[in-house]
Amino acid sequence: MPSFSPPPAEGVRVHWEQLPQAVRSAIEERIGGRVVEAITQPGGFSPGLAARLRTGNGRRCFVKAVSVQANPDTPSLHRREAAVVAALPAEAPVPRLLWSYDEGDWIALGFEDVEGHTPVQPWRGDELRMVIAGLHRMHEALTPSPIVAESASHAFATLLNGWEELRESHVDALESWSRRNLDRLVQLEARAPAVVSGRTLLNFDVRADNILIAGERVFFVDWPWARIGAPFVEWLGLAPSVYMQGGPKPEDLMQRVPLGAVTDDAINAVIASLAGYFLGHSMRPPPPGIPTVRAFQAAQGKIALEWLRDRVGWD
Ligand SMILES: Nc1ncnc2c1ncn2[C@@H]1O[C@H](COP(=O)(O)OP(=O)(O)OP(=O)(O)O)[C@@H](O)[C@H]1O
Ligand SMILES: [Mg+2]
Repeated sequence: MPSFSPPPAEGVRVHWEQLPQAVRSAIEERIGGRVVEAITQPGGFSPGLAARLRTGNGRRCFVKAVSVQANPDTPSLHRREAAVVAALPAEAPVPRLLWSYDEGDWIALGFEDVEGHTPVQPWRGDELRMVIAGLHRMHEALTPSPIVAESASHAFATLLNGWEELRESHVDALESWSRRNLDRLVQLEARAPAVVSGRTLLNFDVRADNILIAGERVFFVDWPWARIGAPFVEWLGLAPSVYMQGGPKPEDLMQRVPLGAVTDDAINAVIASLAGYFLGHSMRPPPPGIPTVRAFQAAQGKIALEWLRDRVGWD
């Protein structure tokens, strides 16, 4: 899964003090104390609050909150995330959802606060090993999927089909290799929906800013995109961002992860879809309140495309 949301975007976050008083009061009521400390978290993209809160009576909570005004799509993503996380089994390495608030223009979610950090960039070997082991265990814990969710196949058929769109409307913006091979790329990505099917609940947005390392434990956060499919898809989706953020090249990363039994053609179909998604989206205007996402997508698109070129060997 492609990194749907983008990286730290200074300036788009809302801080605790900027929330309407009524929303702050409702949050304090749910946490059970007056907030005396609020630390805005930099990782992630939602144009809302993402803060670690501490109350005078010593309670702690991580809270995400957003209003319809900031971005009309984000509230429904927060609602979806609440539904997914509430239904995950206790063994999933995911901070528990403690409460939610959904009134008027605002939605807020309260999670178990994790005293941790996102993986250090550039990626370090020890943290990468922990994350690989943690994601593998999570895939095992979430197979078969404990919840009903949309399939990865559907997402690849409807959202991750960028080459078709690029062929329709952005041919001139493509570099020469893609233009020469456009029909093959469209055909390759069309095979992805069939090969990504599986029984595992995938986060579908695993990337450094959606991972927390706390001592020996690794947590995966940010679940609005969860889809049911084959785990290899999640490893491929993670790979471009790891390289972009100073880790090993995608093909080297693949040697270190438990990809499972999967054909080269299936892998190529998914990489083609990822490249098409990132490049196609990078050419769209930025979504409201999320100005930095397009550059983030363009960088990953370039990496995915080079990865694919090396693998397929087309002229
Ligand atoms: N339970 C938690 N405890 C402590 N910190 C957290 C927790 N969950 C997330 N964080 C931190 O907050 C950041 C933002 O959280 P998250 O990824 O859920 O939101 P987001 O990316 O802004 O959301 P969205 O993808 O909906 O736009 C993460 O990068 C992480 O550093
Ligand atoms: Mg995030």
